[in-house]
Amino acid sequence: AFTPRVFSGIQPSGGLTLGNYLGAIKRFVDMQDTGIETLYCMVDLHAITVWQDPAALRRQTRELAAGYIAAGLDPAKSLLFNQSQVPEHAQLGWIFNCVARMGWMSRMTQFKDKAGKNRENASLGLFAYPALMAADILVYHATHVPVGEDQKQHIELTRDVAAKFNHDYGVDFFPMTEPVIEGAATRVMSLRDGSKKMSKSDPSPASRINMTDDADAIAKKIRKAKTDPDALPSEAQGLEDRPEARNLVNIFAGLADMKVDHVLADFGGKQFSDFKPALIDLAVSKLAPISTEMDRLMQHPDEIDRILTKGATRARQIAAPILAQTYEIVGM
Ligand code: ADP
Ligand code: NA
Repeated sequence: AFTPRVFSGIQPSGGLTLGNYLGAIKRFVDMQDTGIETLYCMVDLHAITVWQDPAALRRQTRELAAGYIAAGLDPAKSLLFNQSQVPEHAQLGWIFNCVARMGWMSRMTQFKDKAGKNRENASLGLFAYPALMAADILVYHATHVPVGEDQKQHIELTRDVAAKFNHDYGVDFFPMTEPVIEGAATRVMSLRDGSKKMSKSDPSPASRINMTDDADAIAKKIRKAKTDPDALPSEAQGLEDRPEARNLVNIFAGLADMKVDHVLADFGGKQFSDFKPALIDLAVSKLAPISTEMDRLMQHPDEIDRILTKGATRARQIAAPILAQTYEIVGM
């Protein structure tokens, strides 16, 4: 039996979205207060699988840390650190490159999406990314990983890596990690196109709400968000073929920590002209304080760096013995 331990990470690739907040960061905060040990990372080694300007990467890494802290992660309760500050991630990542199979990686939909048509020119790191992600998790024997729905396939791969390692070496060393995909907004969609995930890489800035948006920007984007002409239904079933409507209701439920059915009990029969102002008020009341606090923290980069260095030191105390045992098992 493995002691419960939570790990997750986000790439410091710039521009945290409402999707990152509802799918990941808000869940990180929830799990921090369960009494289970929690580790949250800025996965900079993953960010460089696509080109990052060095100065921008440094700034984005601090900004992500500021986002974590502003959203409620407490360095006294959670270990916050950069992936590259804990070399054990990359060291275990290499071993997992030798455990994972080419065929497994080829089936990862995120690689297909991110590499696009020009697959020959994608970095080798982009292809191998899920093996490093398995190492991020398993170097702490983490049992639970809060993520958005888009990461489910990578967590399954993490379990495959753990199972193959355990099988090949005849040990019961790595746990079968569980994804924690919770809340009403595990997959936040674009505000302009209900069939696309809200993402920092979408070319249309109006498609996403950023965690750093001010009240005016939030209001404008929600006012312009694509909808349909019908009134809101009174039950979730009525949203099935209405992706844009469903997305806005999911966002409301996610921000308010409500069930979708409860949101619809309040707004069923109302038009979007009534619902949108309520959503704007809610989004501004939840996000504006975070963005203000992020600004404040970004004025104190030394304070952020100190927190991360301390987090990394403590993370290494967990990771180093697990890596040492892995080497021992492998015969090194
Ligand atoms: P992105 O997908 O924005 O490039 P990451 O890959 O670093 O960012 O994802 C960070 C976390 O945010 C992951 O847990 C991911 O599942 C979650 N996430 C990203 N976009 C969304 C979204 N649109 N809805 C819900 N969760 C999301
Ligand atoms: Na992602």
